[in-house]
Amino acid sequence: MSKRKIIVTSALPYANGDIHLGHLVEYVQTDFWVRYQKLRGNDCVYVCADDTHGTPVMIRARKEGVSPEDLIARMHAIHLKDFTDFQVNFDNYYSTNSPENREFSERFFAAMEKSGGITRKTSPQLYCENCRMFLPDRFVKGTCPKCGAEGQYGDSCDHCGSTYGAEELGNPKCTTCGSTPVVRDSEHLYFELEPQHDYLEKWIPAHTTSDVSNKLLEWFSEPLRGWCISRDAPYFGFEIPGHQGKFFYVWVDAPIGYLASLKNWCEKNGQKFEDWWQDPNAERYHFIGKDIIRFHCLFWPGMLHVAGLEQPNKIFVHGFLTVNGEKMSKSKGTFVNARTYLDHLPPEALRYYYAAKLGPTTDDMDLNLADFVQRVNSDLVGKITNIASRSAQMLHKRLGGKLATLAGHDEELALLARLRDGGETIARHYEDRRFSQVVVETCRLADAANEYFDRKEPWKTVKTDAEAARVTLTAALNAFRILAIYLKPILPAYADRAMRLFGESAWTWESRDTAVEGVTLGEYEYLASRIEAKQVEAMVAAATVKPADSGEVAHESRASKNKARAAAPLKEEIAFPDFDKLDLRVGVVESCEIVPKSSKLLKFVLDAGSLGKRTIFSGIRQAYPEPEKLVGKEVVFVANLAPRKMSVGVSEGMILFAGEPGVGGGAVSPTSAAGPGASVT
Ligand code: MSP
Ligand code: ZN
Repeated sequence: MSKRKIIVTSALPYANGDIHLGHLVEYVQTDFWVRYQKLRGNDCVYVCADDTHGTPVMIRARKEGVSPEDLIARMHAIHLKDFTDFQVNFDNYYSTNSPENREFSERFFAAMEKSGGITRKTSPQLYCENCRMFLPDRFVKGTCPKCGAEGQYGDSCDHCGSTYGAEELGNPKCTTCGSTPVVRDSEHLYFELEPQHDYLEKWIPAHTTSDVSNKLLEWFSEPLRGWCISRDAPYFGFEIPGHQGKFFYVWVDAPIGYLASLKNWCEKNGQKFEDWWQDPNAERYHFIGKDIIRFHCLFWPGMLHVAGLEQPNKIFVHGFLTVNGEKMSKSKGTFVNARTYLDHLPPEALRYYYAAKLGPTTDDMDLNLADFVQRVNSDLVGKITNIASRSAQMLHKRLGGKLATLAGHDEELALLARLRDGGETIARHYEDRRFSQVVVETCRLADAANEYFDRKEPWKTVKTDAEAARVTLTAALNAFRILAIYLKPILPAYADRAMRLFGESAWTWESRDTAVEGVTLGEYEYLASRIEAKQVEAMVAAATVKPADSGEVAHESRASKNKARAAAPLKEEIAFPDFDKLDLRVGVVESCEIVPKSSKLLKFVLDAGSLGKRTIFSGIRQAYPEPEKLVGKEVVFVANLAPRKMSVGVSEGMILFAGEPGVGGGAVSPTSAAGPGASVT
């Protein structure tokens, strides 16, 4: 088969934020695929870059008192280190703030203008006179014009789900400085997509999977709307030629950044851009998450089309990461940055687990932390690595490390033949991005090798028939070698260690056709070690964002008094209907006493007016050493909480405020029916 020429990209991560485990779902799977292509001997180039432009970078740089260029240089180094440590191997990791990208962006814009696709429209926008800038939707908050919910962003309401223009918000505030913006007219440039209606309607289903294209094609029953591609100064980005004070919207030059990174790679490697992107025989693939489909499957092909450039062959769309079945959450410690993970766990464990869960669909993927520990230990360590560690150590200890030759040993040759045959299926799974099936198939072959090993009982024969044991260990080690070759795209550093064991210096997919025999095995380096639940716990603890870290504490002296409470992680945000389920009432403390044999509990009897009397146990004794002083105070309590039987009696509600001002940020324990009384000040 002739060599394929393949260009692969992952979406360009925003320079503004850290790489987290969600991002890695994408970069790691792209890396699997690229490494597989390279292992097959194809010419494959994997390019990426930081997505540097836009308002968030500008604002953050301002806040830190550095230039945007300094900020993005710093983030670039951090991102690249994260990726490298996760063994994600880009051929080029560039920046959208590059000369190549500016040149390409200008070239695209010229082509768009020439095609007649650029129009101008004036529209009212919010402008902050204090920050001296037009406010993007996410930089303004106010009251939803439809339902009246407060604190909503300028594009849509989280409460009622309606969408609107930022200038329709009631009582708008600039999120950067808090002042009230004014409405100003501004003229903007639009890229009209309707002229490409028919072209795109055909292009989309041919280059995406049906679940992706069906959604997009819903928009095609009406004329396609123009896309606003300009932003007003000040904006960190490229100024639009001929339009002073107007900049390309970040999403214009971001996908162009793929081409810029490729061009930069070509320049560094003595290649021509035209021989790659424009080669009609080359293949081009974008890996992206499902949140950015519109930009890659509508605007981007539209831009490439008017610019007369080659289109991607396919857009590979993946789903989102959940952790323990839920959206990643900072308060639960499941929003884990790449670096935090690496501080506690080996990168290969995550690569292995992601591979075991990934397929070619847009389904979300769950990282279940208990399952993660279990799967890595039982399969990667217990099933696969164990073949090598048991065999290599026995061969070294008892048989001088020398491998047998397998000629004439039919059973052993049959085992290896079976593992080689399994490679055809594995190869197809890789090509089609069914990584979970790669793992399933590899484990199945490992089962066969383990079954052989156990049946041959080399730990017994080594005492009675050393040469028979040598043959068994040689077959087992060669079986492992084939498995390690299959896993090389997923576990590159692991495979390299395995390769050194066999004294080899390079593996290709075809290396599985030979066996290593009759030579002395290399020294056994550790290949993979078990991971422990406590490592995961430490990672989650390190990733947990405490409210005390995020909010300013008003009363210093009380802050230390309430330290334990304030340290509790903030729970996930709830919608108003959830809050509205609470029936909050006011009661007067009729009596309050210490509960014998409990260091925490106080027993309250409240006079709850029309509701009668309520007995409530509350775990706040530490905070109120003189409970009798609470008698006569008014408290707010949850009146409709199901009564809860405790060892000391039935608690009929939960008190939220026990008469003393405290520090904001305290938490109510979900396990205590009575709760420690979150302070409302
Ligand atoms: N800068 C844009 C992409 C520009 S591409 C021309 C962007 N950046 S991002 O940092 O927000 O996301 C980068 C990639 O990571 C996207 O493909 C996105 O879908 C993916 N993911 C970000 N969070 C994710 C999860 N929680 N789960 C899976 N993938 C996620 O979008
Ligand atoms: Zn402002």
